Amino acid sequence: MTALVIDGKARAAALRGDVALGVMQFVAVHGRAPGLTVVLVGDDAASAVYVGAKGKATREVGMISSEHRLPAATGQADLLALIARLNADPAVDGILVQLPLPAQIDADTVIAAIDPAKDVDGFTPVNAGRLAIGQPALVPCTPSGCLIMINDALGNISGAEALVIGRSSIVGKPMAALLTAQSATVTIAHSRTRDLAAHVARADIVVAAVGVPHLVQGAWIKPGACVIDVGMNRIALPDGKTRLTGDVDFEGALARAGWITPVPGGVGPMTIACLLANTLAAANAHHGSAA
Ligand code: GUN
Repeated sequence: MTALVIDGKARAAALRGDVALGVMQFVAVHGRAPGLTVVLVGDDAASAVYVGAKGKATREVGMISSEHRLPAATGQADLLALIARLNADPAVDGILVQLPLPAQIDADTVIAAIDPAKDVDGFTPVNAGRLAIGQPALVPCTPSGCLIMINDALGNISGAEALVIGRSSIVGKPMAALLTAQSATVTIAHSRTRDLAAHVARADIVVAAVGVPHLVQGAWIKPGACVIDVGMNRIALPDGKTRLTGDVDFEGALARAGWITPVPGGVGPMTIACLLANTLAAANAHHGSAA
């Protein structure tokens, strides 16, 4: 079997098209566009690239993008004061604080200060808790995007064996909650898991989100499985250049899987599209209309 390579770029473009339509409806009703504010502290080069990409995508669907770029030495109290202002600003529908934050700032404290109704990353304890107990929530963007691609590939996943590799609060844990909510039988594997190969071999759905290049070997994959690769690992090539690669041995998995996401061009574009969808949903909820 040769896997169908899921085109995350195309799927994300379709989702952004849906969001753009929703934005037009929002503008027609409320006379203003939804607004997303991104806060970047410090000058981490990768974070600056992500923030730029988020701003561009926000404007392209007709929403208002604003950015606060703060110096690396910013104190926690100043950042909390900014978040309080954004929480109170009716023109701000979504707030995203780009991670990682500099060492003098406690990320958990900062995230918890974001109004859960504006928490378009879905990282606040309130939204994480709501997702865990099956209540409506703003859901983290990367697992949301993964779930869309899994549902596109497999349709109903009730009773399917799903393996989530990685237990982070940003991807692994919310991914497991989303799959559980659709009645998959979910296993979470992590760095202490014994015999990862045996778990992978049983899984109809594999979501790999650990940041270890090619951890998941192609020969482990159950024939026909849906493989979602969240890994974004930059590796050095013999000629001194670098390239991005995932947590899955893509070439090996291609011969066994039913569906597989490429890196890049799989999960990444879906994450930003889901951020836009969350911002529109937050804006609609803010105004009491159905998302
Ligand atoms: N840094 C890397 N990925 C993310 C993300 O999804 N959200 C935020 N806020 N920061 C990040």
